[in-house]
Amino acid sequence: MTDPLDDIRTSYDTVAFSYAELVHDGPPDEAANLDLFAKLASGRVLDVGCGPGRVAGLLHDRGLDVIGIDLSPGMIEIARRDHPGPDFRVGSMTDLDLPDGGLAGVISWWSIIHLPRDVVPQAIAEFHRVLAPGGVLLLGYHVGEESTHKTSGYGGHPMNVHVHRWTPVALTEIANTTGFTPYVDPVLPDDRLLFSK
Ligand SMILES: C[S@@+](CC[C@H](N)C(=O)[O-])C[C@H]1O[C@@H](n2cnc3c(N)ncnc32)[C@H](O)[C@@H]1O
Repeated sequence: MTDPLDDIRTSYDTVAFSYAELVHDGPPDEAANLDLFAKLASGRVLDVGCGPGRVAGLLHDRGLDVIGIDLSPGMIEIARRDHPGPDFRVGSMTDLDLPDGGLAGVISWWSIIHLPRDVVPQAIAEFHRVLAPGGVLLLGYHVGEESTHKTSGYGGHPMNVHVHRWTPVALTEIANTTGFTPYVDPVLPDDRLLFSK
């Protein structure tokens, strides 16, 4: 049986160019989310599962010192090409090559969605490990309970990934167990969660 991370890496390498061409925007209120994140997490931050670097670039524009990490070397190549400011690296959120407690913020913008459900606690524990006390975690994800198999995307290119939806309650439970505290104010839409360490 292949490692699901290998399938994610291969799939995003395959679609990297078309993803960067086709995906220009996040959710409509994304700018306000990034403003809030930049206000709470001034300092060094990590955009994990950064894809082609769009959000990392926007955070760099807000004055943050940004590291972008993605599993897909193809995505990182495009991120470096299109966004000269952040420090982009290939790596996995399940095993971050970063020291304990060095970051003011971690943003995972629709990037935990492909991890097998039983691997998500490991990624959230890594986010907790690399954050300094008081650091913030902003998660974006698809709301629901179902999992689907995605076999093509971003212009019809072949992919082999699963998309796992999460309820806010289930993700909050994992984050709480890991040691995070939810931010209740401001209120974010259900598909975004904000925590502090
Ligand atoms: C739907 S894309 C989102 C990309 C970007 N965050 C955005 O908002 O456009 C999911 C990204 O997560 C990355 N990813 C998935 N699993 C990962 C892992 N274990 N470690 C690092 N990146 C991962 C994929 O390679 C892909 O670039």
